Amino acid sequence: MKRDGTRIAVLTAYDHLLASLLDTAGLDVLLVGDSLANVVQGEDTTVPVTMDQMVYHCRIVASAARRAFVVGDMPFLSYQTNAEDALRNAGRLMKEGRVEAVKLEGGREVAQQVRRIAEAGVPVMGHLGLTPQSIHQFGTYRVRGRQTEDRQRLLEDAHILQDSGAFGVVLEKIPSDLAAEVTAALEIPTIGIGAGPHCDGQVLVTHDMLGMFERFRPRFVRRYRELAAEIRGAGAEYVQDVRAGRFPALEESYRGAAPKDS
Ligand code: KIV
Repeated sequence: MKRDGTRIAVLTAYDHLLASLLDTAGLDVLLVGDSLANVVQGEDTTVPVTMDQMVYHCRIVASAARRAFVVGDMPFLSYQTNAEDALRNAGRLMKEGRVEAVKLEGGREVAQQVRRIAEAGVPVMGHLGLTPQSIHQFGTYRVRGRQTEDRQRLLEDAHILQDSGAFGVVLEKIPSDLAAEVTAALEIPTIGIGAGPHCDGQVLVTHDMLGMFERFRPRFVRRYRELAAEIRGAGAEYVQDVRAGRFPALEESYRGAAPKDS
């Protein structure tokens, strides 16, 4: 798709039903992101999510995907330790979670892990820029790659990931001119989130773009729907109907002794 100039559309998915809807909507890639810690589990960071939880969510998403390529995130400390741990856990996501590829965060510091996973036959994707698993090291979710040395380091890391066998790289929250430079320099596709329009593809957290996640709203999120308000409204109407005895109506109820009643 990069060679053709066709932009790659990626969204996150964490459960079977939403994954199936997004798959039929034509998404190219479904990412079972460790952002499920924030969105599904209500955690403040992605740090607490475990391998077992990722395997479970990968599996219920993968079983819904008919055409989309499914990528599973490797959770914090499932790969940073060493290349053997990385391969074993990538293998779990693929064999038990049924994903077609894995994603991990970092550049040169995880190059050995990327090489080991890729050489074993597991497609692996990198993730540079804002890397949420390192939140406690950086202390903020601010834009990355603004200083000259950071730009240079990120560009080098992108090359290192490519040379280590990564098939693509997510660029999160970096200036769009830096993302453009990385995209032009690499043969593998870049998938941007808060990285401007010049990446080979774009990814968003589905609950953000559906307007379901309200705790914070980064400027790069475009809300395609406002489902939080819709869901809250539907819930409130239901409460009123139940209280007032308007639900269920007779046509929503069963009668006794009707042979073909269903
Ligand atoms: O976990 C996630 O959802 C991600 C995307 C933001 C790229 O890594």
